[in-house]
Amino acid sequence: MSFSAYFSNKPGGDSIFSVEAPKIKFGRGSLGEVGDDAKALGMSRVAVYTDPRVAQQEPIAKVVESLKSNRLEVEVYDQVAVEPTDISFKQGSLFASEGKFDGFVSVGGGSVMDTCKASNLYSCYPTDFLDYVNAPIGRAVPVPGKLKPHIACPTTFGTASECTGIAIFDLLEMEAKTGIVSPMIRADLGVLDPSVLSSLPPLVRAANGFDVFSHACESITARPYTHRPAPESSQKRPLSQGANPYSDLACLEAINLIGTHIVQAVNDPLEESYDALMFAGMLAGIGFGNAGCHLPHGMSYAVAGLVKDYSPEGWPTDHNMVPHGISVIVNSPAVFRKTGPACAERHWKAAAAMGADLTDTKVEDGGDILAEQILGMMRETGIPNGLSGVGYSIDDLDALTDRSYAQKRLIDNGPMPISREDLKELFSDAMNYW
Ligand SMILES: NC(=O)c1ccc[n+]([C@@H]2O[C@H](COP(=O)([O-])OP(=O)(O)OC[C@H]3O[C@@H](n4cnc5c(N)ncnc54)[C@H](O)[C@@H]3O)[C@@H](O)[C@H]2O)c1
Ligand SMILES: [Fe+2]
Repeated sequence: MSFSAYFSNKPGGDSIFSVEAPKIKFGRGSLGEVGDDAKALGMSRVAVYTDPRVAQQEPIAKVVESLKSNRLEVEVYDQVAVEPTDISFKQGSLFASEGKFDGFVSVGGGSVMDTCKASNLYSCYPTDFLDYVNAPIGRAVPVPGKLKPHIACPTTFGTASECTGIAIFDLLEMEAKTGIVSPMIRADLGVLDPSVLSSLPPLVRAANGFDVFSHACESITARPYTHRPAPESSQKRPLSQGANPYSDLACLEAINLIGTHIVQAVNDPLEESYDALMFAGMLAGIGFGNAGCHLPHGMSYAVAGLVKDYSPEGWPTDHNMVPHGISVIVNSPAVFRKTGPACAERHWKAAAAMGADLTDTKVEDGGDILAEQILGMMRETGIPNGLSGVGYSIDDLDALTDRSYAQKRLIDNGPMPISREDLKELFSDAMNYW
């Protein structure tokens, strides 16, 4: 099968892609139905996960009220760490184990939804912490079976954690971000109510928007699924299959929505922008949940893990951090300049969807055009100027490269082979853009 030349078959490559569609409910007012949904999923004693700031906001009150009005027993865990770590995952898991719950509801951003997934997992199937963590850092032991039901209610729009079987954390002793990846940890239902976004600080909106953009753009420009070696059995086909016709559809529309709305939504938001942004995040989540990300995300784990003295406005100030969306987008222009020649037309189409003026441009320059378009929008929305803007210098190039080179799964999902030297050059190119 070949819808486009990009998916032409390769000897030994896969000829099948699978579609893992998350179950989603979208629309204003949907948080008010969570109690009903929880009951339908068989919950009676529910653990509600959130972080200390979201705990003070309206969405959590709406969800708890909806659960209680359906006569469900509710306990709130409001100690989720923003940008979670192995330590905070373990604390969340302890709460889950001790509370003897039969269901989970998460209300918050990626940090909260991921902590809830991990807590559900380790309380259902306790084991050594590194067992379920991605190889080579962890042992990538398959999740033994189904977890307890989980309803994920995002209050941000970038991570699409409500759509994915992924939970990301910072492994403190290695100063590196890594994760747990399994279809088993995906939430049973994602409830997306765009009204929750109106309290997001401007830079958090910008970081989320560029995370969505990069999920979508990395999925479109990923290695085609037909060029990934065919799995030995259907059960061994990875979640991150590479670019495929289904994820292409969702991702191009996500880029279009972000390109149309992100600058306005950061600087002078209109109420209707929030619906578009949340829908874009969900679409990109469906896309990267099936296709997988590549280099900007692979590099981001080192950028976040090795943080020195960066502490941006809008996030908690009790520790330094390079928030996820920022740690990704500072790499993206350098990456797309490099990967452009591998699939120029895909980069060119992404630039068009992002709003670039393509008059008198050539398709073969797609990577450079896309990079310029992103850079213009980063400047308009207050994103830092590359790696130097988040506290790094050329003295950090080796450390950044070594940490990222371990992210083999992501690097291999890119459209071209990348050596250690290439990776170092990418970090160097991402140091300063303007
Ligand atoms: N599981 C996945 O598939 C996946 C994908 C990408 C990223 N991630 C992970 O998700 C995490 C980042 O998640 P995020 O970007 O959604 O943000 P977040 O959960 O880290 O929250 C960012 C900040 O915004 C605040 N906040 C959240 N919602 C708010 C609201 N409605 N109003 C006001 N403040 C609000 C939080 O309290 C926090 O201070 C990272 O750990 C990242 O690695 C996971
Ligand atoms: Fe991301």
